[in-house]
Amino acid sequence: MPDGLSAVRVATAADLPAFAPIEDAGDEQFARLFGGVDWPAATPGEDRAREPGFLLTATEAGRVVGFAHVVQLGGHWHLEQLAVDPPWQRRGHGGRLLAATHAEVATRGGAEVTLVTYADVPWNGPWYARHGYAEVDPPARLAPVLAAEDLLGLAQHGRRVAMRRDVGAAGVSPRAGSRA
Ligand SMILES: CC(C)(COP(=O)(O)OP(=O)(O)OC[C@H]1O[C@@H](n2cnc3c(N)ncnc32)[C@H](O)[C@@H]1OP(=O)(O)O)[C@@H](O)C(=O)NCCC(=O)NCCS
Repeated sequence: MPDGLSAVRVATAADLPAFAPIEDAGDEQFARLFGGVDWPAATPGEDRAREPGFLLTATEAGRVVGFAHVVQLGGHWHLEQLAVDPPWQRRGHGGRLLAATHAEVATRGGAEVTLVTYADVPWNGPWYARHGYAEVDPPARLAPVLAAEDLLGLAQHGRRVAMRRDVGAAGVSPRAGSRA
């Protein structure tokens, strides 16, 4: 539950520079688990903001501690990235970002969210499953996402899986935290 200091809101321009360092720190967690990765540096937040979709920011006492990036793919909503700064993990920020993502997609008329993740990394597939996501055969609209994953060689570290969750009337989560 939010504790009064934690919030999730639509990202502002001032938040954007914080996102890539948070993503890089998250990638270091994968590098430790996999014994090293050769992934490129994180996408700058400013580049993310130029894509069709939306960005949400998680804050703790006003400090940016995480973000979610949802892109529009063929008229559907795809969670492209979700990351919480490691020192601030396991305090509910990720779950609040996810709940706010579902609410925002529903507000924008979407019925579902997709994502692609590692099936067996504890803070990926199993975590999303606990938040209502189920494994699916990748829909055709995810082809560009899967092609980009192939180029990066993500599957050499573990099984990649597409997941989806309804966010319509039955699936929507309450809005989390305050919003700008
Ligand atoms: C996935 C992520 C956003 C979750 O953020 P968070 O703020 O820790 O999420 P929450 O606090 O809501 O949930 C914490 C739960 O996630 C799971 N979890 C988080 N980190 C974990 C870890 N290192 N090992 C095992 N389980 C973990 C646990 O179930 C944990 O609950 P617990 O602390 O009661 O055991 C965060 O781990 C992260 O940024 N990871 C790196 C980037 C990433 O993997 N993004 C998703 C890519 S698809």
